[in-house]
Amino acid sequence: MAIPKRNPIFLSVIFVSLLAIASAKVFFEERFDEGWESRWVKSDWKKDENMAGEWNYTSGKWNGDPNDKGIQTSEDYRFYAISAEFPEVNNKDKTLVFQFSVKHEQKLDCGGGYMKLLSGDIDQKKFGGETPYSIMFGPDICGYSTKKVHAILTYNGTNHLIKKEVPCETDQLTHVYTFILRPDATYSILVDNVEKQTGSLYTDWDLLPPKKIKDPEAKKPEDWDDKEYIPDPEDKKPEGYDDIPKEIPDPDAKKPEDWDDEEDGEWTPSTIPNPEYKGPWNPKKIKNPNYKGKWKAPMIDNPDFKDDPDLYVFPSLKYVGIELWQVKSGTMFDNILVADDVEYAKKLAEETWGKQKDVSVSLYFEYIIYVHIYIFLSCFIHMRVILLAFAG
Ligand SMILES: *[C@@H]1O[C@H](CO)[C@@H](O)[C@H](O)[C@H]1NC(C)=O
Ligand SMILES: *[C@@H]1O[C@H](CO)[C@@H](O)[C@H](O)[C@H]1NC(C)=O
Repeated sequence: MAIPKRNPIFLSVIFVSLLAIASAKVFFEERFDEGWESRWVKSDWKKDENMAGEWNYTSGKWNGDPNDKGIQTSEDYRFYAISAEFPEVNNKDKTLVFQFSVKHEQKLDCGGGYMKLLSGDIDQKKFGGETPYSIMFGPDICGYSTKKVHAILTYNGTNHLIKKEVPCETDQLTHVYTFILRPDATYSILVDNVEKQTGSLYTDWDLLPPKKIKDPEAKKPEDWDDKEYIPDPEDKKPEGYDDIPKEIPDPDAKKPEDWDDEEDGEWTPSTIPNPEYKGPWNPKKIKNPNYKGKWKAPMIDNPDFKDDPDLYVFPSLKYVGIELWQVKSGTMFDNILVADDVEYAKKLAEETWGKQKDVSVSLYFEYIIYVHIYIFLSCFIHMRVILLAFAG
């Protein structure tokens, strides 16, 4: 029996991929098991104004596993701020994956479901809307106009929004949001492990000034002909054109029977627009044979552009944080991950959201049906009470 010879390249591919898995690094992972409170710091932000909302440690009203809990906003019209620290991370030469799941049980009509990565040293007790962050990522919904995934990167002290539209999920089920940042300055945004947007930090954010600009010195040459159409020099005004009157006497007008020329003056019929009249004469237009197209300034290298090979680098990531304003509470976060391995993140999403989503969906529909039956019954009982009151 012939034993197939192993291709040494094949073997080394296996070896390298084993190595890659072995070297997968998780910088932070939070599944909100028992003891989560020791890892998280609830901020005092907005507490003195009585506007700081409480988090509910719960698996929610519908879920795929009642033992799998997360943290959920539980009070309406409140600010929420909570954060957790992890050993400082520099993503230079590494892929950075930031992932979490979020569920809006309250049918969110205006509010965020995003998270932040923060750098350096912050006072977690004071973490709030003003605290500088490095990355803000996740869904944001407001009315019909805003239903998007935010991906804000802070560069040189300025927050830059992604320039591409990335739609977010708007239902009341759990969804996983993943942001991947690679050392070649490309990124991907995934929702439920499906890529929704991808591209380059250079083009999809305005982090750096543009590489090329229109030459500000360039001027349109004097003889540049940018008229696409010109009057036809061959076209001549037809003879007698200008003699056609604009209006003519109405042929249907009749002199009234009781018209007295002596008393009323000479009768003249009213006038109507002349159907023969075509307006002032204009020669017809033809394509300009000398047309050169619209003039555009040539693009030149932007003197203000200075490439930054570390454009994707956040040298001192140290915290994950949730900072939200909620009109209606009920947003629930779970399974937060900061890592350098896309495959690991994918697996985590599959093991959590992926395993539970079907049960969770059916429980959600059951819940909705119960709510409707409840509303129906209570209406019915009210009606009975009212009817009985009238009868009695
Ligand atoms: C926490 O969530 C559970 C499940 O939805 C709910 O029954 C409970 O009332 C909530 N507690 C608070 C304080 O909101
Ligand atoms: C960083 O910001 C400062 C102040 O806004 C600006 O002067 C400088 O050119 C910026 N540097 C880069 C690399 O964008």
